[in-house]
Amino acid sequence: MIEIIINDRAVVCKEGQTVLEVAKSNDIDIPHLCFHPALKPSGACRVCGVEITSNTGRQTVMLSCLLKVKPGLNVVTDSPLVQTHRQNAFVRLYRMAPQAHRIRDMAHRYQVDLPPEPDGCIRCRLCIRVCQDIVKVGALKMEKTDSDVRVVKGNGQCVGCGTCANICPTGIIQVTDQDNVRTISIQDRIIGQLPLERCEGCGCMYATADFLNRVSHINPEHPDTKEHHHLCPACTKRMSTRATTEKAHIKK
Ligand code: SF4
Ligand code: FES
Repeated sequence: MIEIIINDRAVVCKEGQTVLEVAKSNDIDIPHLCFHPALKPSGACRVCGVEITSNTGRQTVMLSCLLKVKPGLNVVTDSPLVQTHRQNAFVRLYRMAPQAHRIRDMAHRYQVDLPPEPDGCIRCRLCIRVCQDIVKVGALKMEKTDSDVRVVKGNGQCVGCGTCANICPTGIIQVTDQDNVRTISIQDRIIGQLPLERCEGCGCMYATADFLNRVSHINPEHPDTKEHHHLCPACTKRMSTRATTEKAHIKK
């Protein structure tokens, strides 16, 4: 039997044991994720770091699942050095598995700050810029949160054109047509929700009234816009093809 010190407390243990095993059997809390009593330790997750004082008197962090006890070993399980090590270890794990509740819960328990959960948006602002500069509506904007910025509903009224969704490089903006209503959303944030208009040709619900008004406002003089304004893209195409064919017949 040998004696080591953990958090200023003398603990008796067997030669060959690891610091983590000794801590566990003495109800001393050290976080660990890749340790399993039936398997050899691997040192993969790195969250079990503890502070020891080396022979030269320098404080250093070692992985408690790999560190074997030796007489006089002095271990600290929660020092500023350990906390920094833990922070880095948890952030590294979180980046690999952001969906894992166990990692998030454990990080929270050990007062580790994790970065915001990835939301599928790369903050390129393409959606905001196209809505502002081309559609000229300004239905999206960036909002500052405690630790980040994110795309939210802007000051302008969304017309439901879906240009933001088409231009978004990650596909995180959703356009959903259901029960004759179009919803534009980013995760649980609704950007716009508008009723759909019926195509006068085939009867399908194809665009929002606000969008159609916007198109006729932007292109008031264009004859095709006037003619096909209440037709869906498929019917517009059919009409154009028919007009071209008729023109060709007249020429003959
Ligand atoms: S929602 Fe899409 S387009 Fe908008 S900033 Fe995020 S990634 Fe870019
Ligand atoms: S428990 Fe994973 S490195 Fe020690």
